[in-house]
Amino acid sequence: MTYDLTVIGTGPGGYVCAIRAAQLGMKVAVVEKWPTFGGTCLNIGCIPSKALLHASELYEEAGHGFAAMGIKVMGPKLDLPAMMKFKDEGVDGNVKGVAFLFKKNKIDAFIGHGKITAPGKIEVKGADGKTQTVETKNIVIATGSDVARLKGIEIDEKRIVSSTGALALEKVPANLLVVGAGVIGLELGSVWRRLGAKVTVVEFLDRILPGMDLEVARQFQRMLQKQGMTFKLSSKVTAIDSSGKILKASVEPAAGGAAETIEADVALISIGRVPYTEGLGLAELGVTMERGRVVIDQHFATNVPGIYAIGDVIAGPMLAHKAEDEGIAVAEMLAGEAGHVNYDAIPNVIYTFPEVASVGKTEEELKQAGIAYSVGKFPFTANGRAKVNRTTDGFVKILSDAKTDRVLGVHIVGADAGTMISEATVAMEFGGAAEDIARTCHPHPTLSEAVKEAALAVAKRPIHM
Ligand code: FAD
Ligand code: NAI
Repeated sequence: MTYDLTVIGTGPGGYVCAIRAAQLGMKVAVVEKWPTFGGTCLNIGCIPSKALLHASELYEEAGHGFAAMGIKVMGPKLDLPAMMKFKDEGVDGNVKGVAFLFKKNKIDAFIGHGKITAPGKIEVKGADGKTQTVETKNIVIATGSDVARLKGIEIDEKRIVSSTGALALEKVPANLLVVGAGVIGLELGSVWRRLGAKVTVVEFLDRILPGMDLEVARQFQRMLQKQGMTFKLSSKVTAIDSSGKILKASVEPAAGGAAETIEADVALISIGRVPYTEGLGLAELGVTMERGRVVIDQHFATNVPGIYAIGDVIAGPMLAHKAEDEGIAVAEMLAGEAGHVNYDAIPNVIYTFPEVASVGKTEEELKQAGIAYSVGKFPFTANGRAKVNRTTDGFVKILSDAKTDRVLGVHIVGADAGTMISEATVAMEFGGAAEDIARTCHPHPTLSEAVKEAALAVAKRPIHM
């Protein structure tokens, strides 16, 4: 039989694309080389990291925050194997959910490594070495990304780990060295600090979280320092000596100079991720690539007819919800409908405590583009709910067009920022103005009132400040 669509990879891009295509009446297959569906996100990314962030946050709260609310706990004790089981059960529930959805939507799954041998033909090689060929009218490449490596430093996933190893450490390291102050470094660094590790983060640039609004990143760094994280900015790790019991990392100023040694039990390499297309056969097919990424047009089509690509393997932020939206858009386009992804309104969340969330342009980007903008800011110290909850760290910042008041960017650092950013995203999706947010009734008492107040602050009329 010939499928209408075969998706290679079942991460959030691939599995969502397959389901949407099946909903639209296509006969769909997926090819997956891992034993479970869900890709990086469900197996070794978003889901397990959030499970550990949730559990470790409650552990820290029980140790330090409960007493102030009149709850006496007799020194919470960490049971790491049980915490890992909690994480694994969360992953299991999610990956099984995808298998259920495939069945429900009558999507056939081929387990094995997929290689496109010609347009319309995929050879799937199973773990037993046996191959079968899938015939299909269209192919969507959704093979995701892999860990970026540091030259000369070998990741063994025990002592020198990527995010995958850092999600499964067998004991809490006394000293954890994090290389790269990006999303993974700060999320997983937070997990292990809360569980008792002393965490040192080495970052090449002179700031953390490149790409995020600088004011937010600076304030957030101070909050993490107050929690006990140490930062070495403008520095690079050039080598890690793992011959002894303790790792010895050579750390140099980014611009070059004398190296110092930082000792650690575990080193987490979190310097980014790279698109993954190994063994897919793209070079042989002549698929155009740029810096490892598959090049596509506005319809997610590669230069080879019938072959499309979405998610981490193409340009844009490496985020699960971006991959999902692309999966839906390409399925709808293949069905003759008008699929669409608005790249100007893709939210970005860091699930630490407090959370950091943003959508749209940063102040630096607006300055660079020469766009005149107004700023409205509101601190959580002036929000009633944050006061009672004692989650007053952080603020909301709204950037709107100086002439039209249209919202151009929203940046939040604070408890539950990740949930609150959605209202800003909806406002931006509808081309809303700061005034629209300011005139929208927000429930009291909630942290979201700070978003309304920041919108009021754009017009210089906040009530509680
Ligand atoms: P992937 O999820 O990477 O899936 C690709 C799939 O393709 C895999 O299952 C792989 O086995 C399969 N595959 C590859 N090649 C082949 C082949 N030749 N044949 C068959 N199968 C193949 N993003 C967020 O938005 N929020 C988060 O909180 C978040 N947390 C993260 C935490 C960590 C630790 C990491 C590492 C990432 C996190 N991300 C998060 C990023 C997110 O996981 C990715 O953006 C997302 O998974 C990309 O989806 P995808 O479908 O493009 O690819
Ligand atoms: P990242 O791109 O977020 O951060 C990497 C950091 O490492 C940057 O600050 C960079 O300047 C620094 N760096 C690069 N080379 C270095 C070197 N040699 N020495 C020191 N520092 C160096 O990458 P990260 O954290 O690995 O995450 C990968 C991707 O996974 C993210 O970009 C994001 O797309 C996704 N992700 C998303 C999450 C979320 O949405 N909450 C959570 C985790 C990952």
